[in-house]
Amino acid sequence: MTAALHVSGLRAGYGRTEVLRGIDIVVDSGSVVALLGANGAGKSTLLKTISGLLPPTEGTVELFGENAAKQSPARRTARGLCHIPEGRGIFRSLTVKENLELQGAPGKRAEAIASAVESFPILGERLSQVAGTLSGGQQQMLSVARAYVQHPKLVLVDEASLGLAPVIVDDIFRFLASITQKGASLLIVDQFVARALSMASRAYVLNRGVITFNGTADELRQEDVFQRYLGEGNEAP
Ligand SMILES: Nc1ncnc2c1ncn2[C@@H]1O[C@H](COP(=O)(O)OP(=O)(O)OP(=O)(O)O)[C@@H](O)[C@H]1O
Ligand SMILES: [Mg+2]
Repeated sequence: MTAALHVSGLRAGYGRTEVLRGIDIVVDSGSVVALLGANGAGKSTLLKTISGLLPPTEGTVELFGENAAKQSPARRTARGLCHIPEGRGIFRSLTVKENLELQGAPGKRAEAIASAVESFPILGERLSQVAGTLSGGQQQMLSVARAYVQHPKLVLVDEASLGLAPVIVDDIFRFLASITQKGASLLIVDQFVARALSMASRAYVLNRGVITFNGTADELRQEDVFQRYLGEGNEAP
């Protein structure tokens, strides 16, 4: 089966600073893959390069079996990619309803609102509220709702649970699980390593722009491997 994502030899950075130094990763169709690594390792940079927000200096990104080099971020979205960026990625000065309308395809705005409200009923009660005045957890629900609204084939999730109370984190992970049940593949970056691994079949560890571990989630869960790659600050799950 064609992989949802195939990254090979990818290099990218900002100005003269190279952040990604030759990355190879694969996300099989329908699978969940965790991307782990310390702060500053390059996780968000990798997701931005995959979604086309940052051009690579070398290497290729293949999405759904096609080389994406000439595809704009909007084109990649239309082909089935959904990037939920770090830091919420919503329009703070627009209302909840307006944000949801922008997430939906043209002509499918009512449907976009209905599917978001189905996933997170609280958003339905707050459609006319300005998004920037929602609580942090509600803002994150609005941000991840696009993974349902857009019916994507591959979702890149960057720290969706950052700064949220445990019960909201549960909601977000339950939501992500429901998306995979509908057949979407997931590449998930999260500070809750144990939770990310419990959903994932495979994991990659990124260390200063290089992949230093590539294996099954079970292999990574073995304590010695876990400590070696993710350091003392992380509890083995
Ligand atoms: N827009 C930018 N301009 C210049 N340097 C950047 C920019 N964004 C990120 N960097 C640098 O690139 C490196 C990788 O950052 P990145 O955000 O990809 O890390 P990360 O693994 O997502 O970290 P975190 O876990 O803290 O989110 C860091 O050294 C960071 O300072
Ligand atoms: Mg990041």
